[in-house]
Amino acid sequence: MKKMKAVIPAAGLGTRFLPATKAMPKEMLPVVDKPAIQYVVEEAVSAGIDDILVIIGRNKNAISDHFDSVPELEVKLQQKGDHGRLERVMKSSDLADIHFVRQGEPKGLGHAVLRARTHVGDSSFAVLLGDDLIDERDSLLIEMIAAHEATGAAVIALMEVDPAHIHMYGAAAVEPTDTDGVVKVTGLVEKPAAEDAPSNLAVIGRYVLPSSVFEILERTEPGKGGEIQLTDALQELAADPDGPGVVGVTFRGRRYDTGDRVDYIKAIVQLAADREDLGPGLRPWLKEFAERL
Ligand code: G1P
Repeated sequence: MKKMKAVIPAAGLGTRFLPATKAMPKEMLPVVDKPAIQYVVEEAVSAGIDDILVIIGRNKNAISDHFDSVPELEVKLQQKGDHGRLERVMKSSDLADIHFVRQGEPKGLGHAVLRARTHVGDSSFAVLLGDDLIDERDSLLIEMIAAHEATGAAVIALMEVDPAHIHMYGAAAVEPTDTDGVVKVTGLVEKPAAEDAPSNLAVIGRYVLPSSVFEILERTEPGKGGEIQLTDALQELAADPDGPGVVGVTFRGRRYDTGDRVDYIKAIVQLAADREDLGPGLRPWLKEFAERL
């Protein structure tokens, strides 16, 4: 089997973080000391992927600069003997083979994914959304790739959410399968009202897709919010009895949502508190701070 490529859509406007995202893409916002997108690239790399296509919009040069080398900075750190920082700086430009394509107009996630067609060709591929960070101790993407290899189906990641929050996600109707943690997806709806949701199983931002999804996306009409929705294309795959179908891998691990301001702050605090270098300094203060609230 050919090595799988990954696609990271990063062309959103980041309106929830304005003015921080006025001149900088939201994917470059730091989560502790790394931009959010680097976590996602590292996750793909740990799942064995070494070719990554980032779909960028306007103002996105910062992303390509981040994954490029900065010789003058490297020389400075070398001269200062700061090997720890030097290693961290060099790591971001050595991670994988990273390519970029522009989306042009932001016409939705489905439209962004379609921009990857030429680069991906006729192989299956992974899609990782930068707003969802999956803890590096959890192996969601690896399990999804295994489920795809076993079934040939499109694989989505599903997580139970409070029914009051399902309107912020794609929602799935599912049936059990013989494999623990894997469900058959019989229907998908993008951001339904709570009363119309088929379940409280939310689609989270990881997908492993067969290339046939591109043909569907070509003819997918704008849906929710007037945008071309990936969820709608996957609903078509789920409903087609002759196609590869859609399965869901249910995720019960640690996910950090960096798309929402409060959740973004929580992600930074949780990740920093867990780190060996920062946790010891942060945790006692956090306890004290919580007592004062
Ligand atoms: C996208 C998808 C949605 C999914 C969500 C996960 O929405 O369209 O189905 O549940 O990502 O983060 P967005 O958050 O980009 O509006």
